[in-house]
Amino acid sequence: MNLKRLFFQPAFLFLPLFSAFSQQLTVDQKVADLLSRMTLEEKIGQMNQYNDDWIATGPVTLDADKAGQIRNGQVGSLLNCVGTARTRKWQEEALKSRLKIPLLFGQDVIHGYKTTFPIPLAESCTWDPELLKKSARVAAVEASSAGIHWTFAPMVDIARDPRWGRVMEGSGEDPYLGSLIAAARVTGFQGTLGSTDGIMACAKHFAAYGAAVGGRDYNTVDMSDYLLWNVYLPPFLAAKNAGVATFMNSFNDLNGVPATGNAYLQRYILKGRWKFDGFVVSDWGSIGEMINHGSVKDGYEAALSAVTAGSDMDMESRSYKNHLATLVKEGKVPVALIDEAAGRILKKKFELGLFDDPFRFCDPEREKKALSNPDHARLAREVAAKSIVLLKNEGEILPVPESVRKIAFIGPLVKAVKQNKGFWDVEVPGVDSSFIVSQWQGLVNRAGADRLLYAEGCKIEGTDKSGFPEALRVAEAADVVVVSIGERRDLSGEAKSRANITLPGVQTDLVLELLKTGKPVIVLINAGRPLVFPELSAKAPAILYTWWLGSEAGNAIADVLFGTVNPSARLTLSFPVSVGQIPIYYNYYNTGRPATTDSNRFYNSSYLDESIWPKYEFGYGLSYTTFAYSDLKLDRKELDAGGKITVTLKVTNTGKRAGTETVQLYLRDKVASMVRPVKELKDFAKVTLAPGESQTVTFLITDEKLAFYNARLEFAAEPGEFDLMIGASSRDIRLKESFTRN
Ligand code: BGC
Repeated sequence: MNLKRLFFQPAFLFLPLFSAFSQQLTVDQKVADLLSRMTLEEKIGQMNQYNDDWIATGPVTLDADKAGQIRNGQVGSLLNCVGTARTRKWQEEALKSRLKIPLLFGQDVIHGYKTTFPIPLAESCTWDPELLKKSARVAAVEASSAGIHWTFAPMVDIARDPRWGRVMEGSGEDPYLGSLIAAARVTGFQGTLGSTDGIMACAKHFAAYGAAVGGRDYNTVDMSDYLLWNVYLPPFLAAKNAGVATFMNSFNDLNGVPATGNAYLQRYILKGRWKFDGFVVSDWGSIGEMINHGSVKDGYEAALSAVTAGSDMDMESRSYKNHLATLVKEGKVPVALIDEAAGRILKKKFELGLFDDPFRFCDPEREKKALSNPDHARLAREVAAKSIVLLKNEGEILPVPESVRKIAFIGPLVKAVKQNKGFWDVEVPGVDSSFIVSQWQGLVNRAGADRLLYAEGCKIEGTDKSGFPEALRVAEAADVVVVSIGERRDLSGEAKSRANITLPGVQTDLVLELLKTGKPVIVLINAGRPLVFPELSAKAPAILYTWWLGSEAGNAIADVLFGTVNPSARLTLSFPVSVGQIPIYYNYYNTGRPATTDSNRFYNSSYLDESIWPKYEFGYGLSYTTFAYSDLKLDRKELDAGGKITVTLKVTNTGKRAGTETVQLYLRDKVASMVRPVKELKDFAKVTLAPGESQTVTFLITDEKLAFYNARLEFAAEPGEFDLMIGASSRDIRLKESFTRN
């Protein structure tokens, strides 16, 4: 073969050679090599993400020629593109581009793909990061089999305001628990990144989105650095330390600067101080929305602001596509900045193995198997049952005795199917909703249809009470009444803020009427957020907060109603007595005039017309058994820098059933350079005990548990006295001690 002929061989004959060569390069070298062969427009293309025109999770902009742009190398990623058929179709278009750079497919796999787990707020009430790692793993196994490379989860925003609809998507109000769960979810989603069932996770929304003024979604955020670093940032740092591949910035402005164009957040903190080496995607359209914020004049300035601040990928606003090349040509944006952003994105594509096989996540056989794996449903049922919070159980009417002859199952959510999935479920192509176990079906499975009576009673919303007489007739004919009421699944979620977080419609009236029958009434409240329901908390003997439990909702509810599973969940977000108390959270500062009870209001920090305490506090949740705490011991009362104190205590199951207790350790730094919270969760243990059984629980106190970000934003423990509190909730403190750090 002469040289000339060799030269004219079709390019693919060289591929094995090239790939053998490229395998010897590090990922960074591969990225550099690829960047050196890309035009400016192709690099900017990598930074551009479009919505597929099938489903939308934001305001849609349609492109006449999406496929053409993909073939031209002007698109680096698509979102809302699910299923092997659809992802394959778009990937094939990308492979027609000059450099054949594969697309990344991103999707909001928030609490499961096909198998739907409880909404994240509900899951967080398990206080079981290992379990949540497993549920994220299942979501990744399913989603990755259907062509998805990347989930826009976990949402790790701390939230103290249940009016904000997106509380359903996070882990509640606590930075310590929120950090553990953030890390667990990242690890679960990503598995071993680079294997075919690990998908990139995305810590969102960076940052402080959960503190939107008035709980109104997308609203402004004004916050001290002290609060930001100690409460709102820790779960993001935990996600970063767990190796999260991507971050998403947020819609809100923070102290007058939109997060998307915020260099302090993205350049100084994330990529600087934390040395995050993945990439940052904007939120949907948030680059362009800086025009509405009023921080930039037009798309040109928006692109300049976002790229300078460290936003690497533009989700849907088209600002990068339309303006970055001009900005570079005019010398306003250095090419190095484009190389950095495109390089970060390409690096992830290499790490995922997409250059070796762009279809490695797109396998119809694997998809079929993953989406019908019975183990996934089993795990969803376990997580769901462990997410249900028992709020009240007067007279121990729960669990429902096996001997009960007739159960009236009443309410607008009893026979609902899709409602159980909650907000942010995935519409999986070709899958109908028949796999979701309705609450009715769950009870039929457990108790048998013969023992069940049904009436809808009323709708979730509206004023129609015409179903009440039938509901009362059904209740009269039963031994026990179970009523399932709540929100619609889309009353909590993005853009679903509510000023009145009460039970909608006439549902409360329905329960109050049913209570008049004198039958034992058990109320199931299905919702995506803490609701305010004063009459029911006062009058209903038993309340289970069932959130949205996902595809196994019915079976899980039956497990708890009949006591197959003893409820063990604990609240991760305070339930207010009334909306006027919001924001209400357990880790507040003491003030100069603290009120300790609702009766000492005289010139104290309190309300004249309302309690200062929540209805159900952080860490609260009952069990069908009871636990006693005793024998608190600290192996020493003084801690030197770098030292540790071992804390032990005994927990005993004093009831008649096996159960799991969540033993909570809180600390208070009594005098410090900055005002410190009255208590902060710093550890917990879940202990499962048979009736009469005791166990010793051990905790370690180290400097890390005492440290906080001080006025100079250094993370350090200070000398002084600390209170140590062991509780069954943040208010139900059972044992106390104190120690000194030298
Ligand atoms: C949400 C993000 C989400 C994105 C894509 C936005 O509106 O704020 O959390 O990941 O849409 O669906």
